[in-house]
Amino acid sequence: MNMTTNLKEMVGVKAAEFVTDGMIVGLGTGSTAYYMVEEIGRKVKEEGLTITGVTTSKETADHARALGIPLKSIDEVPYVDVTIDGADEISSDFQGIKGGGAAHLFEKIVATYSKKIIWIVDESKMVEHLGKFPLPVEVIPYGSQQLFKVLAEKNLHPVLRQKDGEIVRTDSNNYILDLHLEKITDPHALANLLNSLPGVVEHGLFLDMVNTVIVGKSAGPVIIHAR
Ligand code: 5RP
Repeated sequence: MNMTTNLKEMVGVKAAEFVTDGMIVGLGTGSTAYYMVEEIGRKVKEEGLTITGVTTSKETADHARALGIPLKSIDEVPYVDVTIDGADEISSDFQGIKGGGAAHLFEKIVATYSKKIIWIVDESKMVEHLGKFPLPVEVIPYGSQQLFKVLAEKNLHPVLRQKDGEIVRTDSNNYILDLHLEKITDPHALANLLNSLPGVVEHGLFLDMVNTVIVGKSAGPVIIHAR
């Protein structure tokens, strides 16, 4: 197990402490959220924890189901008590980029209906400004080449996400255009621009959303109350 994996496990396990009996819990996606799901699954099995999970991807749904965590969809619950998820970057003012795992559409929907949002990250994800990590934008395939040109003309440097020579498809069968920006100076303005473009389903800017960040450091997890 390498150092980063250790830190991911540390924050995943720590975050599960915020989950108590009766809660409706948003279960995030990715290699850090994996450990939180594992720990909640362990508590359900070994400690009789009773929760309802709302998953943010097929991957997490399969994982949670295999662990015996009871699940409902976001449309079957009145709200979510707490959502615990990873992030790709968190700026010093607690804005975030998500979607490295192509799950940011469902992640943002579940987060939107959550009373509390906790992000769990290893310390490498904490940055001064957003943008080194390419910003994922989920787009519907129809018209995506026109949209690509518009984004390129606006100097947003889009790259169609591919894996093993194949175009990546999201859980909703859409494409991802990753914007290689290096530094996002005004995240709200960029979010407004992206929201205004037909064909954009959702972008990975998660602004003014997170309440608590748990950062994995070699000395132990650090809990930061963001807002
Ligand atoms: C998936 C996400 C993930 O939370 C994000 O990519 C972080 O993943 P990891 O914990 O594997 O680094 O937004 O869409």
